[in-house]
Formats: sequence, structure tokens, C-alpha cells
Amino acid sequence: MSLFRTKSIDAMIASSQKPNGLKKVLGPLDLILMGIGAIIGTGIFVITGTGAVTAGPALILSFVVAAVACGFAALCYAEFSSTVPVAGSIYAYSYATLGEFVAWMIGWDLMLEYGLATSAVSAGWSGYFQSLMAGFGLHLPVALSAAPGAVPGAVTYCNLPALVIMLAITAMLSIGVRETKRINNLMVAIKVTVVVLFIVVGMRHVQPANWHPFAPFGYGGVLSAASLVFFAFIGFDAVSSAAEEVKRPGRDLPIGIIGSLACCTILYIAVSAIMTGIVPYQQFLGIDHPVSLALQYAKEHWFAGFVDLGAILGMTTVILVMCYGQTRIVFAMSRDGLLPRKFSTIHPKFGTPFLTTWSVGILFSIIGAVVPLSVLAELVNIGTLAAFCLVAVAVIVLRKKRPDLPRAFHCPGVPAVPSLAIAFCLVLMAYLKPITWIAFGVWLALGAFVYFAYARHKSVLQTEATEQGYEVGERAWKN
Ligand code: ALA
Repeated sequence: MSLFRTKSIDAMIASSQKPNGLKKVLGPLDLILMGIGAIIGTGIFVITGTGAVTAGPALILSFVVAAVACGFAALCYAEFSSTVPVAGSIYAYSYATLGEFVAWMIGWDLMLEYGLATSAVSAGWSGYFQSLMAGFGLHLPVALSAAPGAVPGAVTYCNLPALVIMLAITAMLSIGVRETKRINNLMVAIKVTVVVLFIVVGMRHVQPANWHPFAPFGYGGVLSAASLVFFAFIGFDAVSSAAEEVKRPGRDLPIGIIGSLACCTILYIAVSAIMTGIVPYQQFLGIDHPVSLALQYAKEHWFAGFVDLGAILGMTTVILVMCYGQTRIVFAMSRDGLLPRKFSTIHPKFGTPFLTTWSVGILFSIIGAVVPLSVLAELVNIGTLAAFCLVAVAVIVLRKKRPDLPRAFHCPGVPAVPSLAIAFCLVLMAYLKPITWIAFGVWLALGAFVYFAYARHKSVLQTEATEQGYEVGERAWKN
């Protein structure tokens, strides 16, 4: 029974309503910009290359499928975050609805998602950094340019630029440098300018013959690529995490979430159509900077350099946001007693979770340096898709369990929309490689082991229950 003990939703909502200095200042445009800032990164600048090889020019359909799955999940996110507007994202939401064990597994899953996403984006960053340096005639030794096995036919040991950027960002976060709204808006402007420039400049070089055959690998190819390019949409959940600071959450949150998804979908479709229109899709095999490659192919070298620079800046902010999210999940789990207490200590001078930041920063910088991007991206996707399914379940459960709670935003068509979110996510998961499923299964099994061996006994809810002398598990039925 103790597996299903839940935190009290009312207590969580009450504590989130205490004055905490957060002003309600964000409007729909701010939210759309925030979403685009967190979304556009390695997915469009790097993974589209592998997507093109997997689906052919039909990659544009893959983007549509992935966007629809995200859209349904986003509506569920919006309802949950406007009902339970607390830090800790879906880990916290599920602690309040599905019980401690599920919350733990989600938190464990999110550690994989956010952590490996930082590793993946740092590997993507490295591809563009090296492409930019190559424009100045500077080349790294091949052995230090990529993870082992990442470059077909070359001996590589480690992705040095990926390691360095991750450690630099860890250092910034550990001393309390956070992305500000101004920097975010600047980065969004640069990213969107680069993408739009690519579209405008690239359009002139499209050879429609390259679009035939349109879907050389059929529906299977389209769905496999969709399960991969899904990565390009991850990050819109950042919008829902701002729920407490939104002026009119009931109206603005869905506009922010759906608006940023819609803008990115349109840009992604245009970019993939132009990329595959300029370069025959087979030539993207093993390429880690496909967008600038397309411009080089079109002999637009000056623009290619500009795209490299924009991609580097854009991906830097994605790493920053993901790294930040990762440390806060570990922090929240440690505060609940599920991870060792020292991970929620705050540095006396910098006011940051210093130990947590460096622990996860070092771990995931090493992973980013030695594991190929394609492997990382699949793992991130399976973890995120599983988390989306659970958010959709949680929305249905909370509607049944607590219909009385005030909800600033109502997901339309419950339970149909959450069920569609689950169905789409499961289809995308089914198209990921067996090895990804195995690795994910091993990670979850390890998580279950740690829960039963450690977290369950150290949980704050367990300690409270023991101190107050009521049966463990009773709390589960009090809500
Ligand atoms: N959507 C983010 C990116 O593509 C994770 O980098």
C-alpha cells in the first residue's frame, strides 16, 4: 500500500500560493518565445539528417506526426500545471496523484531524459562548432572529434568540444548564472532568424527531382523518423512550468504551448522540405551538421557559416535549460527524502544546489563525450514519451479523484484527448530500436531496485507516517 502513498494536493497548492516573489507578468507572446527558446536546437539542426536518411523527403510527414503527439500531450501538461502549479514538473504532479512509486519512477525517468538530453545537445553543439572552425581552417584531431563509433570508418575516442561545453555550462549554473528573459529572447531571435534565412536562401536551390520518390521507405520509414525527430519538439514543457507566473493561465498557457509547437512545426516542415530538396537524402548519412551542409552543397558558404554560428548559440541555451531542469528534479527528489539529503543542500555563497549541479554535470558531460548522438536521442525520446503517457494518465486520474479542484485550464475532451496522447506516444515508442527498449528497461529496473532498497525507507512521507504513528499507506486514501 505504501507504494501508492501520495502527497496532499491541497498542501502542495497551498504552499505554492504562499507569496514567493513570483510576479504574474507573462503573457501569450512571452510564453511562445519561451517555448521556441527551449524547443529549437539539436533536433532540427542535427537529427533531421538521420531523419532524412530514415524517411526520405517524407520527413516532413514525420514532423507532423511527432507534432500531433506533442500537441495532445501538451494539452494534458497545461491542465496539470495550471492545477498544481508547483516546481518539480511531472514528478511532483504524479506524487500528488499516482503515488510515490510511480512518482519515483517518473523522477528516475526524467533524470535520464533531462540528463541525456544535455549530453545529446552538447554532441549536436560539437558538430556545428567543428563545422564553424573548419570554415577558418581549424580542425581537431579526428580521435577527439566524436564519440567512439559515431563516425563510420574512423577511429574516434571522445567528443572533446561536447565535454568542454557541458563543463562550462555546469560551471555557470553552479555559481548561479541563469538564463534571463532578455538573453532568452535574444537567442530566440537569433535562432529563428537563422532558420528563416535558411528557408529563404535555400528555397532558391531546391531541385524538385530530389523529392522523388517522396516516401522511399513507406509508412514504416515515416514513423521511424517521427520517433527520432520527436526529439526536436522536446522542451515545450518548459512553458507549462511557468504556470505560476502567467497573467491569465486559462487562456495564455494553451496559447503559449500550442503556439510555440505550431511555429516550430511550420519551421521544421519548411526546413526539412528544403534540405531534402537541395541535397539527395542519401547524402545525409553520418552527417552531423545537415542544415549547414545543405547550404555548402548549394555553394552558399557565407550563409552556411552564419547558420553554424546561430545553431551553436541556439543549442547553448537548450543545454542550459535542460541542465537546469535536471538539477531541479534531483533537488526535488532529494528534498522528499527519495535521494540522499546532500543533493538538496544549497551552497552558502552561490545559493545554488552546487553538489547536485557538479555531480550531474560531470556525469552527463562524460556521457555526451563517449556515446553517439543517435543512441542518446533515442534514449531521451523513449524516456520522454513514457513520461508523456503518465501525464495523460494523471490528468484522467485527477479528474476522477478531485473533480472539485480549481483548474485554470481544462484539457478539452477528457478522456479522449489524453487517450490520444497515450496512443500516439505508444506508437512512436514502438518504432524505437530494440536496443533502446532494452537500455530503458535496464534503467527502470535499476530505478525500481534503488526505490525498494533505499528511497522507500528514507522517504519523508515514510518518516512522517512513522513519527505520527499511523499506518503507512493510510495517507494514500486520505486524498
Ligand atoms: N528540442 C530540443 C532540441 O532539439 C531538445 O535540441
